[in-house]
Amino acid sequence: MWRASRPRLAQLRASFFRLLCLLPAGVSVRSADMQRATDNITIRQGDTAVIRCYVDDKVSKVAWLNRSNIIFAGEDKWSLDPRVDLVTKGQLEYSLRIQKVDVYDEGPYTCSIQTKQQSKTSQVYLIVQVPANIYRVSEDITVNEGSNVTLSCLANGRPDPSITWRLLNPSAETLEVGEYLEIYGIMRTQAGRYECKASNDVATPDVKYVNVVVNYPPFIKLAKSSETQMGRLGVLQCDATAVPKPEFEWYRDDKRLSNMQGITIQIVGTRTLLLVANVTEDDYGNYTCVATNRLGRHNASVFLYRPGTGRDINGSACICLSMWLLVLPLLLPLLNC
Ligand SMILES: *[C@@H]1O[C@H](CO)[C@@H](O)[C@H](O)[C@H]1NC(C)=O
Ligand SMILES: *[C@@H]1O[C@H](CO)[C@@H](O)[C@H](O)[C@H]1NC(C)=O
Ligand SMILES: *[C@@H]1O[C@H](CO)[C@@H](O)[C@H](O)[C@H]1NC(C)=O
Ligand SMILES: *[C@@H]1O[C@H](CO)[C@@H](O)[C@H](O)[C@H]1NC(C)=O
Ligand SMILES: *[C@@H]1O[C@H](CO)[C@@H](O)[C@H](O)[C@H]1NC(C)=O
Ligand SMILES: *[C@@H]1O[C@H](CO)[C@@H](O)[C@H](O)[C@H]1NC(C)=O
Repeated sequence: MWRASRPRLAQLRASFFRLLCLLPAGVSVRSADMQRATDNITIRQGDTAVIRCYVDDKVSKVAWLNRSNIIFAGEDKWSLDPRVDLVTKGQLEYSLRIQKVDVYDEGPYTCSIQTKQQSKTSQVYLIVQVPANIYRVSEDITVNEGSNVTLSCLANGRPDPSITWRLLNPSAETLEVGEYLEIYGIMRTQAGRYECKASNDVATPDVKYVNVVVNYPPFIKLAKSSETQMGRLGVLQCDATAVPKPEFEWYRDDKRLSNMQGITIQIVGTRTLLLVANVTEDDYGNYTCVATNRLGRHNASVFLYRPGTGRDINGSACICLSMWLLVLPLLLPLLNC
């Protein structure tokens, strides 16, 4: 009876439902009551779902429905979908197998069982999950300090993934939850590797990275003078912070120095050394190191001292400051009066 030519399909389907409807209302309500909550089967996209249905030998008719469409009526397959088949064990099992499950398979599946006296349905809701997947993320960028920066990270998945941003510095705290990370007036300390993580607990989270370079002008944070005896090697040093890496120049008063006759300029990254081989009387004095990049320029003075006359400027500044810090608490009460 189920093996029908296509034009008769609709007609047959209608009669199938008429059959189901003919059954006493009380019975079907009771069977619905027996399983008030529909069971959910959660499956990952691409996997094989087996939706179980068990029957006994008194059964006269069985069918599987996807929503209201008949997939199987007895052993007869109505669905044209090659991914769908039955798993049967003698007369006792009538389970539905769906291979390579996809998102459009999500929905209610009904195993309909008819015996001579009654009809019973068991419904299962198939939930299809898809691992979180980041399909677009900002490219690495280089900006100047103070710029406004927006990073984006777009992901899909089922259920909808949640997206979190972190800057992978030692603290690596979560900065933002959401697709967009907005940074107003970016600072140099906010440069680095940003991690965007999309997770929905279906599989391991998807993670992508954006490198952010923040350019800023040079600043000479350390200028080291030297006390050197005549005939010895004098070493003057300047350390700068700058992005991109600075160019360095050394001056003696207004005269630019270069590698020649006893003078060697070394540059390693953001540090420069001025080496004066075999210091003579004339070499003592004031030198200036200058750091330059495309955002600016900064200089500092350092000194080559004759032993005994030397006074480390930084050192004396430190002493002055620490003296003040000691004295200040004593002065404050007086100032308040
Ligand atoms: C099935 O899933 C729905 C929606 O996710 C939920 O509301 C319901 O409680 C679930 N039922 C069971 C039996 O887990
Ligand atoms: C179930 O029905 C939906 C909607 O009609 C269809 O897209 C899907 O392919 C069907 N799945 C199976 C396994 O029959
Ligand atoms: C950054 O954004 C703020 C607020 O929207 C705006 O006032 C400011 O002008 C922007 N700065 C730059 C450099 O675009
Ligand atoms: C050292 O030289 C620089 C550059 O010529 C000058 O600006 C600075 O005042 C000098 N410092 C001293 C202490 O002479
Ligand atoms: C250092 O310079 C002095 C004076 O110019 C010279 O006599 C001496 O030989 C030099 N020493 C070395 C090691 O070059
Ligand atoms: C050092 O910086 C000062 C102040 O910006 C500037 O006047 C001076 O010319 C600079 N010296 C050198 C050698 O660049």
